[in-house]
Amino acid sequence: MFEPVLTKYVNEPNGYTLEFYVEHGGYRAMKTALGMTPDAIVDSVKKSGLRGRGGAGFPTGLKWSFVPKDNPKPKYLCVNADESEPGTFKDHVLLERNPHLLFEGCVIACRAIGARTCYIYIRGEFYHLQKQMEAELAKARAAGYVGKNILGTGEDCDIWIHRGAGAYEAGEETALIESLEGKRAQPRLKPPFPAVVGLYGCPTVVNNVETICNVPIIIEKGAEWYAAIGPEKNTGPKLFCISGHVKRPGVYEGPMDTTLRQLIYDYAGGIRGDRQIKAVIPGGSSTPVLLPDKLDTHLSFDGMAAAGSMLGSAAVIVMDETTSMVWVAKNLIHFYKHESCGKCTPCREGVDWLYKILDKIERGDGEPRDVELLLSVCDSIGGKTLCPFGDAEIAPVLSTIQHFRAEYETYITTGTSPVQSDFRAAEPVGAH
Ligand SMILES: Cc1cc2nc3c(=O)[nH]c(=O)nc-3n(C[C@H](O)[C@H](O)[C@H](O)COP(=O)(O)O)c2cc1C
Ligand code: SF4
Repeated sequence: MFEPVLTKYVNEPNGYTLEFYVEHGGYRAMKTALGMTPDAIVDSVKKSGLRGRGGAGFPTGLKWSFVPKDNPKPKYLCVNADESEPGTFKDHVLLERNPHLLFEGCVIACRAIGARTCYIYIRGEFYHLQKQMEAELAKARAAGYVGKNILGTGEDCDIWIHRGAGAYEAGEETALIESLEGKRAQPRLKPPFPAVVGLYGCPTVVNNVETICNVPIIIEKGAEWYAAIGPEKNTGPKLFCISGHVKRPGVYEGPMDTTLRQLIYDYAGGIRGDRQIKAVIPGGSSTPVLLPDKLDTHLSFDGMAAAGSMLGSAAVIVMDETTSMVWVAKNLIHFYKHESCGKCTPCREGVDWLYKILDKIERGDGEPRDVELLLSVCDSIGGKTLCPFGDAEIAPVLSTIQHFRAEYETYITTGTSPVQSDFRAAEPVGAH
């Protein structure tokens, strides 16, 4: 039985407080790390195999090693707590229930990359968290765990919480940096990458909340201990969000050799009304839909890629047999249409066209050529946009057509959905 590490104390009423955290061994890893050289911390994180939890699974130690040591400019750490992808709510649990694990991780990561300032960029709608986090951060500062001359070691690390304006695109790392600088959250062209030219033109590392929360655990328990959890190259504890037609939606922690079937049936209690599964989105709304024949696949970066999708933000959305896949595609495209930042033409115009065509089919006015038209619009977006948002927005359309083309065609021919749904969200997603 896997014993949770990141979420061990999240159900304790005072688990989020400094007092509880210190009483249960908190800030011990930071003391160890302050006695290590920055290179030794980076090496340890590399050996642990930690891969970024923000979506792409990029090796964290490697990312840190891209920060140039000889650059005289200040260096920054930005923690990405924008968490706006539909289906994703894992970072919220850490921010709300384990904020000191994050602060401790920030201090260690800053030491590793040579930064003295860290910004935690939280989603605009997380104003309810901001107050509690600010209060806990103030306590950590007063106790000498954060700020100037940490625990008398001469090490400085200031942490600031910055609440965004409420935009999905602000989670893209260069858009996040623009937003922190007070500009609109629109992405920059890469290269240069943030590790070299980031916040205020200075070397910057952007890491996800869950990624940084893994860092104290690696230092405390050791890289070998950490690397032994889960399959090779997919190491460490992982948070999975599960929502949709399951009996017990929520956030669950497990190793990455947990299968989709185990998450759905053992952790989340199976399907509402004991119906059949029709499809699963495994990693948030921008990852391709999978069919039930992939239920025995590991929820790991490599497992999901081999199955034809992505682990992404590990946000599993389960759809039962009563789900209309045309409605799913339209609902998600409504979100992307709302959230496109508008900076580049294929995304800005293309997503509007996708929505118009899907809406026409849903209204019963579809024409036989519409499926090919959808594919052609997707082709004009995929790989042709400034940031990965373009590839993200076409994933639900392409994958639902790939697996459920006959459902689209019947909808178009008969003017009505062939699926009898008893559930329909009152409002489409994306109403910020
Ligand atoms: C449209 C878009 C939204 C994103 N939103 C988030 C987000 O909310 N949180 C996050 O950690 N990464 C998000 N990312 C990924 C970030 O650009 C970046 O890769 C990530 O923060 C790196 O952290 P990691 O190396 O720890 O995974 C998003 C990317 C895109 C293209
Ligand atoms: S792909 Fe979309 S979100 Fe990304 S820069 Fe272009 S318009 Fe903005």
